[in-house]
Amino acid sequence: MQISILGSGYVGLVSGACLAEIGHSVVCTDKDESKIRVLNEGGLPIYEPYLKEIVARNVEARRLSFTADLGEAVRHGDVVFICVGTPPLQDGDADLSAIDGAARLIAREARSSKLVVEKSTVPMQTGQKLTRALAIYGRNSKNSFSVASNPEFLREGTAVLDFLHPDRIVIGVGDESAEKQLREIYQPILQQSVVPCAVHGGVCPAKDVPALLVTSINTAELIKHACNCFLAVKISYANLIADICETMGADVEEVMRAMGLDPRIGPAFLRAGLGFGGFCLPKDIQAFIRLGEKAGVDVALLRDAELINKRRIDHFLARATQWLWTLKDKRIGLLGLAFKPNTDDIRFAPAIELIGRLLQEHAEIRVYDPQAMARTQEVFPTIQYCADPYDVADGSEALVIVTEWSSFKELDWARIRGLMQRPLLLDGRNLLDRDEMVAMGFEYEGVGKPSVEVSPLTGQIVRTSSA
Ligand code: UGA
Repeated sequence: MQISILGSGYVGLVSGACLAEIGHSVVCTDKDESKIRVLNEGGLPIYEPYLKEIVARNVEARRLSFTADLGEAVRHGDVVFICVGTPPLQDGDADLSAIDGAARLIAREARSSKLVVEKSTVPMQTGQKLTRALAIYGRNSKNSFSVASNPEFLREGTAVLDFLHPDRIVIGVGDESAEKQLREIYQPILQQSVVPCAVHGGVCPAKDVPALLVTSINTAELIKHACNCFLAVKISYANLIADICETMGADVEEVMRAMGLDPRIGPAFLRAGLGFGGFCLPKDIQAFIRLGEKAGVDVALLRDAELINKRRIDHFLARATQWLWTLKDKRIGLLGLAFKPNTDDIRFAPAIELIGRLLQEHAEIRVYDPQAMARTQEVFPTIQYCADPYDVADGSEALVIVTEWSSFKELDWARIRGLMQRPLLLDGRNLLDRDEMVAMGFEYEGVGKPSVEVSPLTGQIVRTSSA
């Protein structure tokens, strides 16, 4: 199938590369010409595991190409996927101007009939507006446009895996031919017949074949928002329980483990910590709240989940201040900047809020992240960017785990202890084993679990918060 991808960000690039990987002929474009230049020079504008290899292989095989010529890209595809950004407006609504721009572009540049597929996350009823826009702007052409919704469930950091081995594929369609085309596009994934797999090589772990759900366009749009908001609610629930654990004395990890063993609840997305960030959950919950309000539905549940998340950094700073007395002039090291591991994305990352607040308090900040330093440097040029975690620890009075990169677990923690001015660990993601760290001589504060304070004079434990 000939496929066009409009928008070569995280969603567009991963989708385009993976659609080429499963055999389609794909042309990707973006209005940001610098992105296309980087791609045509063999680089990637983002970090995403496995993506570089897939892009290189499919460019080489001539199944994948990138062009800054938007019209050429539109004309290539029988099916055009819209993967443009839908960032939040001031009032929380999704900004759909890029979707509207894509509709006008397609209507203007198409020289044949096309199936236009929304892949960007959009509020319900956007498909209806898209259909209308294509009809208005394409009214003088002989081409017809059919619209479908095909929400993505890719997680940054595991996006290639998620694309090639999804749990489900949702297609919202208004006519049979759209369904037929989308079934054909996803056939290799629905049959799990992509060999060799870019993630697993020869043999993929046994997994059920993905479910295909064919719905109306409205329903497909709603499914995406409903999923992301439910994940957000789950995380905020874990954080609410964590706060209770801290004040009343219990361990949130044990509570969540027990909860997750109940198949009606499930273990995923119950990790308490500094809260959810990234360019999906925070903006989607806002947009969904707005949608609910417009529909006259009580969305208090979503508002509270959002509020709990917004307060995570306040709460964390209050705890940090209890340990450090004041933050002014304190040398504080942060490990991790990305909103989650295995990505270089810092959009709405808890680290960004945390750094901003620490700067207001006039703390001295040293940071390290395996992938997200360059992007953070654009936002905060004056803080200290370190060569490695040991450099961050050097002379620090507290070390904060902000992102749970697995490589942080493997650090030489005895060496870190020796480098720190005060061996205080503030583990914002419950990444480290508290007992191991305490045995090594650290003071330790996790999220929603008993903290351990050590006497600077004797090295003995002087206080354990109740458990
Ligand atoms: C999310 C969804 O998980 C994807 O299914 C969806 O396709 C994507 O948004 C999207 O709409 O494009 P993503 O934003 O990549 O994916 O990240 P998540 O893995 O959902 O994590 C979001 C945030 O929640 C991160 O900051 C993470 O650290 C935090 N989180 C996650 C927790 O604090 N606790 C948890 O238990 C899980």
